[in-house]
Amino acid sequence: MKSIVSIDKLQQIGKVEKNVFGSFVEHLGRCVYNGIYQPEHPTADKNGFRRDVIDLVKDLHTSLIRYPGGNFVSGFEWKDSIGPKRRECIDIAWEAVEPNIVGLDEFMNFAGKTGSEVMMSVNLGTGSIGECQEIVEYCNMEKAGYWAKQRIANGHKDPYKVHYWCLGNEMDGPWQICTKTAEEYGRLALEAAKIMKWVDPTIEVVACGSSSTANPTYPEWDRKVLEIAYDRVDYLSLHSYYSYPTPDHSMAEFMASPTGLENYIHTMRATCDYVKALKRSNKDILFALDEWNVWHMWDGTNETKVKWEYGLPRNENLYDYADAVVVGGLLTTIMNNSDRIKIACFAQLVNVIAPIYTDPNDKKGKVIKQTTYYPIKMAADAFIGKTTLRTVNMVPNGETKTYGKVPLLYTSVGYDEEKKEYAALLVNASDKVNSVQLDFGEAVEETSLVKLVSDNLKIKNTVDQPDNIVPQKEDVKAAKGHKHTIQMPKYSVYLVSFKA
Ligand code: AHR
Repeated sequence: MKSIVSIDKLQQIGKVEKNVFGSFVEHLGRCVYNGIYQPEHPTADKNGFRRDVIDLVKDLHTSLIRYPGGNFVSGFEWKDSIGPKRRECIDIAWEAVEPNIVGLDEFMNFAGKTGSEVMMSVNLGTGSIGECQEIVEYCNMEKAGYWAKQRIANGHKDPYKVHYWCLGNEMDGPWQICTKTAEEYGRLALEAAKIMKWVDPTIEVVACGSSSTANPTYPEWDRKVLEIAYDRVDYLSLHSYYSYPTPDHSMAEFMASPTGLENYIHTMRATCDYVKALKRSNKDILFALDEWNVWHMWDGTNETKVKWEYGLPRNENLYDYADAVVVGGLLTTIMNNSDRIKIACFAQLVNVIAPIYTDPNDKKGKVIKQTTYYPIKMAADAFIGKTTLRTVNMVPNGETKTYGKVPLLYTSVGYDEEKKEYAALLVNASDKVNSVQLDFGEAVEETSLVKLVSDNLKIKNTVDQPDNIVPQKEDVKAAKGHKHTIQMPKYSVYLVSFKA
């Protein structure tokens, strides 16, 4: 099998922002309790946060973390999570207990340690617009008003200056606490955005788009919400999870997931731009793909086994090699839409459908990097700050039931004008070797090649065998030239760097 990727550095799409490598921490399962926070763990710092986890979060360039939910936020009483007196609550979204040991201030402290910006979501389920106003006051006002003074009294003199705010979560979903119609949510989002921006005019807000392309209200929800709230919102939230789309668990269908994401983004571009025209607006709505990942639900890991406890396993996927290849492909799609996607959060950060996984059986145990950790790390290392390029790809196609005709090679090429450096993320989504020719239209030399390869699609990294899948370095080919050919084994992820 052969492919040709023609690259022209003048065909620029957009800069890959660091916030495209954001993540998501929800009060759910073992993400917070027994994940990032485990005071009895040997690596815990004085605040109870695991240093071994913090190191991996930093290593992944996790620039931004969405917090505290997710479905959780639609019942979250933020005032219970601050100050000296904490109230244990029940979390009806996940049928769990929220002890409020880690609250808003503690999480800000954690994010400071990982060097991540926090994107805060507000409760538009059981919460009110008044509470949205107050949480912005608590986080962002210097000293005026009761809530800024409360923050100072709680030991946090400087405002947190939270810039990004999500106006609720998945409000179209019947599973959400206080689901809304598009009209109800549109009005609420508009008013919440207005009031929150009156408190702090520098903030940017994210309106909930459809939570799934499978929802019957997709994509009408998005159109209706934007028709109401367009002028006040800055971002539309996109959520997208992938698993085997057909009952036979066909690998070919699963490998085509990046095409599913591309189709979704395409529809959302069209929807936003339609409303832009309708409004005679000159503003573009940007995308916050603030939940994306592979998520398998067919294996029972989603079920609540023990209710009304906290820190117990929930929604944990132990990812295999095939999942890592699909995550690599999804990353090419995300980066190829970098003119519009300025925020993306792989969901979630630790234990809950996450690339970082702590030993569930040993409270003093290890943390491991799941297979999916590596494509994220490879892409983040090479692409942040680069500008992605629109390439012309002559690649073999496959035929799928789910998405129709799909490419069998997914690619994204980034370029750094100043350093004259290129990075190519290549994902062979087929079961055949692919001889991939990259044609740069100018003389370049290969400077590094890192690859994820395995013959075993089902192999996982486990607590006992954490290094089954790790990236491998290959020796670079010295020759400088316009064209470089890379032999990609079946189902593989390559990151190749070049210098002009
Ligand atoms: O990430 C897990 C859950 O998936 C989130 O709580 C929700 O927003 C989505 O449905």
